[in-house]
Amino acid sequence: TDSTKEKLIRVHEDSAELFHHILLNTKIGEDALDYLTQRGLTRDIIDTFNIGFAPQERTMLHQYLIGKNNEQELLQKTGLFVEKDNGDLIDRFYNRIMFPIRNQQGKTVGFSGRIFQQDTEGAPKYLNSPETQLFNKRNILFNFDLARASIRREKEVILFEGFMDVIGAWQAGVTNGIASMGTSLTNEQIHLIDRVTDHVLIAYDGDSAGIEATKRASELLATETNFDIEIIRFSEGMDPDEYIKKNGSDAFKELIAHGRDTLFSFKMAYYRRSLNLSNESERLGYIEKILTELLSVTSAVERELYFKQLANEFELSMDSLKEQFQQKFHDSR
Ligand code: UTP
Ligand code: MN
Ligand code: MN
Ligand code: MN
Ligand code: MN
Repeated sequence: TDSTKEKLIRVHEDSAELFHHILLNTKIGEDALDYLTQRGLTRDIIDTFNIGFAPQERTMLHQYLIGKNNEQELLQKTGLFVEKDNGDLIDRFYNRIMFPIRNQQGKTVGFSGRIFQQDTEGAPKYLNSPETQLFNKRNILFNFDLARASIRREKEVILFEGFMDVIGAWQAGVTNGIASMGTSLTNEQIHLIDRVTDHVLIAYDGDSAGIEATKRASELLATETNFDIEIIRFSEGMDPDEYIKKNGSDAFKELIAHGRDTLFSFKMAYYRRSLNLSNESERLGYIEKILTELLSVTSAVERELYFKQLANEFELSMDSLKEQFQQKFHDSR
């Protein structure tokens, strides 16, 4: 007989199929399908990611799974239901577009449901499965199973913030993308990545949250040895999916291929954002920070380049910059 885990996986796979069917083949799925079509998703990509729709009626999934002879006790463990005061289970997800979340083996172990209509004030944009025996957010990277082959081929993984970024990139032909699903990268996720590649391209959103998250993720990745990190920066308020929609697949592929920033130049831009460089002490603080960051730039040629940039920009001599750097280098030993 199946273990509880296997049963829970089967329930998730069945649920995903039901949501997918409702989205594609029923009247109640029409508005959701329109929304996805408006966002530029093709039928093909909806199939690839097995996207679905959970309707307003909060008894639907429960009835469907009971009809398949699943016991109430098992359903309680799925995270797909909430318990009413009288003990009845009702569907957790309703009136949401459903994104199945798969584990490394490609099995569906959780969902994230997106609202897509205006009259849903106060509700979170994406509602995720709670932690269950199957679903530990810490251990899961969205799309890691499908992306793995392409990560190996490209010798690089692209780290996005969101589901739609991964999916939009995939549709544009960039298939080595995964998402940390909005939260901070965990050590567990970093170790998963580490087993497949040591090159990470971070492509988070261009807003403040995304920029802060880029800084955090790059620091977490840098504490692990040997990760080569590069950054794609999007303009303020734009995310990868929006970039693709606005500029097209070719422009996106071009950006991925040739629009990279080194981690160092990302950090220069990052510190600049928060500092007023016409103020002398903030300017000195900035130069200090940059010199500190330069300690971790191992290529002498690259360092030379940044010394030149700094010297030009702040009208300093290369010699004084290098002297201060040497001092730091000495102190850091
Ligand atoms: P974003 O707010 O950037 O959303 O959150 P998005 O990915 O661009 O989504 P669309 O394009 O509006 O559909 C990034 C990621 O953070 C997680 C999701 O994984 C989302 O894709 N998130 C965000 C949540 O889990 N819950 C939320 O309420 C919001
Ligand atoms: Mn390498
Ligand atoms: Mn975001
Ligand atoms: Mn976004
Ligand atoms: Mn988006």
